[in-house]
Amino acid sequence: MNNLELFFVPLCRMNNLVRIGIIGLGQRGMATLRRYEVIGEAQVVALADLSATRLDEARRTLEQQGRPAATLYEGEGKWKDLCQDRNVDLVCVCTDWASHARIGIYAMQQGKDVALEVPAATTVSECRQLVDTAKATGRYCTMLENCCYDTFHLGLMQMVQQGLFGEITHCEGAYIHDLRTDLGWVSYTVFEHMGNPYPTHGLGPACQLLDINRSDRLVSLVSMSALNKINNTLLRTRRGRTILLQFDERTPRPYSRIQTLCATQGYAQKYPLPTLQLDGQQPLQGEEAQAAVEAYHDAETRHLIAEGRRLGVGNLMNYIMDRRLVSRLTNGLAPDISVYDAAVWSCVAELTARSAERGGALMEIPDFT
Ligand SMILES: NC(=O)c1ccc[n+]([C@@H]2O[C@H](COP(=O)([O-])OP(=O)(O)OC[C@H]3O[C@@H](n4cnc5c(N)ncnc54)[C@H](O)[C@@H]3O)[C@@H](O)[C@H]2O)c1
Repeated sequence: MNNLELFFVPLCRMNNLVRIGIIGLGQRGMATLRRYEVIGEAQVVALADLSATRLDEARRTLEQQGRPAATLYEGEGKWKDLCQDRNVDLVCVCTDWASHARIGIYAMQQGKDVALEVPAATTVSECRQLVDTAKATGRYCTMLENCCYDTFHLGLMQMVQQGLFGEITHCEGAYIHDLRTDLGWVSYTVFEHMGNPYPTHGLGPACQLLDINRSDRLVSLVSMSALNKINNTLLRTRRGRTILLQFDERTPRPYSRIQTLCATQGYAQKYPLPTLQLDGQQPLQGEEAQAAVEAYHDAETRHLIAEGRRLGVGNLMNYIMDRRLVSRLTNGLAPDISVYDAAVWSCVAELTARSAERGGALMEIPDFT
């Protein structure tokens, strides 16, 4: 924490309550609003959307759930008023991804911490502006990358930290999800992006396993798209390790984020079949492998999973993400995912397109740290 940040310690960190403003109440924003019903140390105090109908649905949701009413900001440009609202500590940005960086930057300039839906930004320049603004304002800018809270991944992180795999050589991740018929996603899938417009679900967990932005960093990538439907990207790290990243929302394939880890003393993957193979041990598959990996969860993860199950939450990844974000803020700790992580995982969207447009040209990945 720098001096500026100490000076601006927001109210939430003193009152053990994070007061949240949500901008964008479409599919994801409404889900976010509902999720916070069960997050005790958080209160949604403000809501913004372009549409009166969306806001009215959000208002009724709060009412039906017996939660306090929120201030409503309706119409173009009103998101700025939410960012200025003195009752808001944390601005959650759930608009379309083209506007995440612009809104996040303005919110930080108003003294707010920011949580951006994925991807945090769509261009390298926006990523750099997010980092520069977070540094200049001393505010947190995190990304709501829920796949980093996948229970298999959380187990793998512990195993890696305990050195059980030896040295990681290579990871694979993906967002493979047949969304051709899901009208809710048409707005994202129809626009022409030559590369991987949605890299962070696959890349975030892989970068965490490889300790990117800490003991290693991403240095370059090459990317190729097939018939503008599938994108494959290979990324290299400074220490010479690699990540294979895939994107496919437009052909009939089984859902997969792959989540593969290759290392000198072991191998693990989540999709299509959980698998764990450690030197000197019986290889495991399916539920056995899943359970063996999840047996390494730390005490906090075990506690959050048990709590989430008791509450009957629909999606444990989201629950663990929300609870950890709020508890870290109320305890004066930085969010798990830093602005540097958000920037380097997101900037790949532009770099894959530039590489693929040139038939797989090598692109350097900036060091945002
Ligand atoms: N993490 C995940 O698993 C996950 C899942 C779904 C979507 N997402 C992300 O969430 C974001 C939103 O996706 P969605 O499917 O909810 O989109 P959506 O189109 O359903 O909703 C976007 C909402 O933002 C509002 N909006 C847009 N610009 C605004 C502005 N300037 N001021 C106020 N409101 C504004 C729109 O009116 C709309 O209601 C996307 O970035 C997407 O990538 C993440």
